[in-house]
Amino acid sequence: MSRNKTFSILAAASAMALTLSACGGGGSGGNDAGGGSEGGGTMRLALNQTEQHPSYITLTDFGERLGKATDDRWDIKVYPNETLGAQQEALQLVSDGSVEMAIVSGTQLENLNKDFKVFNLPGVFKSIDHQMKVTTDEEIVGDLYTSLEESENFTVLSGGFTQGARSVYNSKRPIKTPEDMNSLKFRVQESDVAQDMIRLMGGSPAPMAYGEVYSALQSGVIDGAENNEISYLTQKHNEVAKYFSYTEHLVGLDYLIINTDTLKSMSEEDRKAFQQEWEKTVKDFTAMWKKQTKEAHQKLKAEGVKFNQVDKEAFDKALAPIIDKNLDNKTQRELYEATKAAAE
Ligand code: GCU
Repeated sequence: MSRNKTFSILAAASAMALTLSACGGGGSGGNDAGGGSEGGGTMRLALNQTEQHPSYITLTDFGERLGKATDDRWDIKVYPNETLGAQQEALQLVSDGSVEMAIVSGTQLENLNKDFKVFNLPGVFKSIDHQMKVTTDEEIVGDLYTSLEESENFTVLSGGFTQGARSVYNSKRPIKTPEDMNSLKFRVQESDVAQDMIRLMGGSPAPMAYGEVYSALQSGVIDGAENNEISYLTQKHNEVAKYFSYTEHLVGLDYLIINTDTLKSMSEEDRKAFQQEWEKTVKDFTAMWKKQTKEAHQKLKAEGVKFNQVDKEAFDKALAPIIDKNLDNKTQRELYEATKAAAE
């Protein structure tokens, strides 16, 4: 991102923070929001998806229900399309309190606490239901989800939004084997595991922000990317990369993060309502996700996307070394084992 764009996002965010505190709102900047007293206000939520994506729809609904449940003390305004910045910037804004919440992909959290990478590894989740079972289990994720409170001043909310199965797509040819990926450049999310993954799958990785992918594909800076059908469709990447190959290498996860001071400024009752409404949002999202994935597939087919199956065994074999290579401490190994055990 250019310095000017970063500056204007920060300026816009701090202008809004002033508005929030002027009306006695919540957030770490709020005048009367501290110390568990009766805080409140509109929390801004940074999102990189369009208004058609299930996350925007269910988060908007979350805000409305939160308003009702707290007698309008708290509500949420969702800023879609990276308006408040790409995920890397949004994370910083939540950390310093100029924005209260954001949805960020697991890859972003991996950059702050390596233990998060366990959930970013290919094959770790067998299905969406397995992923939801693990990430809503306090015993498994409790420590992980609060691990960034001290260093980054944000809390990760239980569960998350599934990214479903991610597959590769490109503008050149159908991918059936790892060899077909050779000499092609694929955009990846900004993390070491994501880059490693594409290398092992046979391609070359190009890390960049989500919002930059369309033009990078269009201009030929990259040949392809990897994502789920809903993101592929809502970002219109099918217009510039029509070969979608079902590698299904990873079931990814998006996390809701909230500034820890903001969370602490909620009264006990409001915090409970917030947690309850969030849990409902996760369930709504998962149901909507499954339905929209089928619809997206039909739409994409009608728009001329060439779908194909791949040699799964060959990709599994190519990706196998990534697990051992990345489990580099006891916490990560235990997290990995607990995740595997939950699938049984
Ligand atoms: C998915 C995910 C986003 C992520 C994006 C990406 O769309 O839901 O959170 O940013 O993939 O590939 O960057």
